[in-house]
Amino acid sequence: MKPTDEALAERRARVAKRWGLTDEVVFLRAGEPASWSGTDQHFAFLPHPDVPYLTAAGSPGTTLAYDAAADEWELFGPRFAPERLVWEQPPTPVGRPLDELENWLAQRSDRELIEMGADAVMPETASGDSPDQPGGVSRQERVLRLSAAVALERMIKDKAELDDIRRAAAASAAGFEWVYANAAPGMTEREIQIGMEAQFFAAGAPRVAYDSIVASGPHGACLHYVYAGDDPLRPATRTVEAGDLLLIDAGAQFGGYASDVTRTMVVGADPTDEQRFLWDLVLSAQQQTIDMCRPGNVWSEVHLAAARILGAGLVEMGLLRGDPAELVPEGAVALFFPHGLGHLLGLSVHDITSVPYSSGSSDDPVLVKLGPNRVLESGMVTTVEPGIYFIEALLGDQARREKFAESVVWERVDEMRGFGGIRIEDDVLVTESGPEVLTAAIAKPIRVG
Ligand code: GLY
Ligand code: MN
Repeated sequence: MKPTDEALAERRARVAKRWGLTDEVVFLRAGEPASWSGTDQHFAFLPHPDVPYLTAAGSPGTTLAYDAAADEWELFGPRFAPERLVWEQPPTPVGRPLDELENWLAQRSDRELIEMGADAVMPETASGDSPDQPGGVSRQERVLRLSAAVALERMIKDKAELDDIRRAAAASAAGFEWVYANAAPGMTEREIQIGMEAQFFAAGAPRVAYDSIVASGPHGACLHYVYAGDDPLRPATRTVEAGDLLLIDAGAQFGGYASDVTRTMVVGADPTDEQRFLWDLVLSAQQQTIDMCRPGNVWSEVHLAAARILGAGLVEMGLLRGDPAELVPEGAVALFFPHGLGHLLGLSVHDITSVPYSSGSSDDPVLVKLGPNRVLESGMVTTVEPGIYFIEALLGDQARREKFAESVVWERVDEMRGFGGIRIEDDVLVTESGPEVLTAAIAKPIRVG
């Protein structure tokens, strides 16, 4: 749902309050299409997410300006000259014409200009300077902190945002339903991807939220296995065989908002004991950690809980030996579960990642709220996506085999090489009354075809 003018005004007011600026001018730019080197072509354009969040618009060039002295926002949008309109349709007009921006800024030429959005230049890592020590804060640190302030607002979804995420999830559901009804041995991964994505689009999604992962058999052990990842010119695709695991990680986008769903199923055969054990284990880890998605819980603790559950299952199966509570910190569980339990979801599938520290750790009281030690709050949407994988690059690595000689039962693990991977992922809204699974309508069959 497009946010109302009132909703946009509320978002802007909250951001301005967090910024606490007095005299500066801020530009938030949507950006320009990226060019394809050596050609006159451009990649499909997607705006810097801060701009649609604060404007509900996102054509190339769209710029939101903020005059801190007046506490006023002004939106500028592109208009095309007749010559350009011969070739391209006009962008939906928003705000004032973009060519008025220069004059608007000239009237404020004595003020400090801070460039954000697509033009933000941020430090690789924050220095740890406190924002209340302006003398010690570099320009890039300043941009980082202003961006972090927008990120903190984007983390808590309002009604219009949740509505779009739900519509994205509904389009994803249509695609997964197609898979459940049609996937069968003899089909290629590519055919399955095309059939599924067609349903996303038929259900109203303008695009996918990220490149779909349709990985069969051993390919499921590559976390981001995508079509043409091997060769952009003549990509290979694998034919699914009866008894293969099929891991599909895909999501439709709607209104700029992502959904992100993973299901893993056995195609055309009943699951083997090992497939069933690990599938049940991953599902159990997911169910238990979804239940932990409640206000006040620390995300890194939820991740560790998942790792301990998966570790205990791997011990039970005879692949690991030892105490799961120790196998997690020593890194043995991460051989089989080598990624985080999930990530925030919103205007980007891995949301709020442009702010350094969102994937690291920080003692900074603001930045820590964006990182893995964030405390869950009502209104956050996070994925919960535990998995178990048999990754050749890790399991065949001599240094790791020696390091984990005691804790990994290599004879058993070696029998599992080529198994692929199992991941199960849903999108979860944190609420005061408990977790709401926004992708709950998408079934979790262990077998299809
Ligand atoms: N959807 C892929 C990922 O979350 O990394
Ligand atoms: Mn995900």
